[in-house]
Amino acid sequence: MDDEWTWDLQSDLGIMNPTTPGRVLEAARLARIGPGDLVLDLGCGSAGVLALLAGTFGCRGIGIERRPRAVEAARARLAAAGCADRVEVRCQDATAPLALPAGITVGLCLGSASLFGGTAAAIGALRRLLPPGGRAVLGERYWRTDRAPPEFARDFPDCLSEYELLMVAREEGFALTGVVRSTEAEFDAYEGAIWAACRERLRSDPGDDGVRAYLARVQEEYLGYGRELVGWAMYVLDEPW
Ligand SMILES: C[S@@+](CC[C@H](N)C(=O)[O-])C[C@H]1O[C@@H](n2cnc3c(N)ncnc32)[C@H](O)[C@@H]1O
Repeated sequence: MDDEWTWDLQSDLGIMNPTTPGRVLEAARLARIGPGDLVLDLGCGSAGVLALLAGTFGCRGIGIERRPRAVEAARARLAAAGCADRVEVRCQDATAPLALPAGITVGLCLGSASLFGGTAAAIGALRRLLPPGGRAVLGERYWRTDRAPPEFARDFPDCLSEYELLMVAREEGFALTGVVRSTEAEFDAYEGAIWAACRERLRSDPGDDGVRAYLARVQEEYLGYGRELVGWAMYVLDEPW
């Protein structure tokens, strides 16, 4: 989702992905996040995840987000959650060189792999940004089959099957230590929230052909093949032994 208005469609979601706070906490526990951690969140959106983790585990955080409006929303959320003193959000392109402080222990990339060029590239970026021993949680779409028909696979060229993801993680020097998979109902709820946001925009501006076309396309993709062939999960990456 690159346009400003498509970001808006998701901006009411606390977590801008087909998952739940409970699943994020499950992944965080598997990644052993605790009060001593400094968590780097790449493409943090409005910091729903960082606020949840800082509030639950007492960790510190740095969010990188390139949209000024998202950064503003993130700072407001963190202030309201009482953790603005522990979590900083920088308005920055996460693919540019980042001047990061020492002591980052965990990297997150949740629904943001596309900004690096896809799942494999995001795992590589996490590896490069984290110090040795760093842990990571990558949340992304995956192919539920190794045999996605080419006419559908073309729509998600950067998506991997879980087997491919496992191989990339190992090549990058991570051990895959956990998977927290979203259910179809959770994916339905996420897609449904985007459809509802599109409908809301069309109610106030019925002539917005861009939103109308976008809604038609995402519904066709999801019900045509996405729901059957594409899943969403968080993968916990740890140091290999
Ligand atoms: C799908 S949202 C996920 C947000 C957040 N990780 C979450 O789970 O709620 C992806 C976010 O990445 C941000 N983004 C896209 N390209 C970026 C870039 N080059 N640098 C930093 N953030 C970027 C978008 O603005 C958007 O807020």
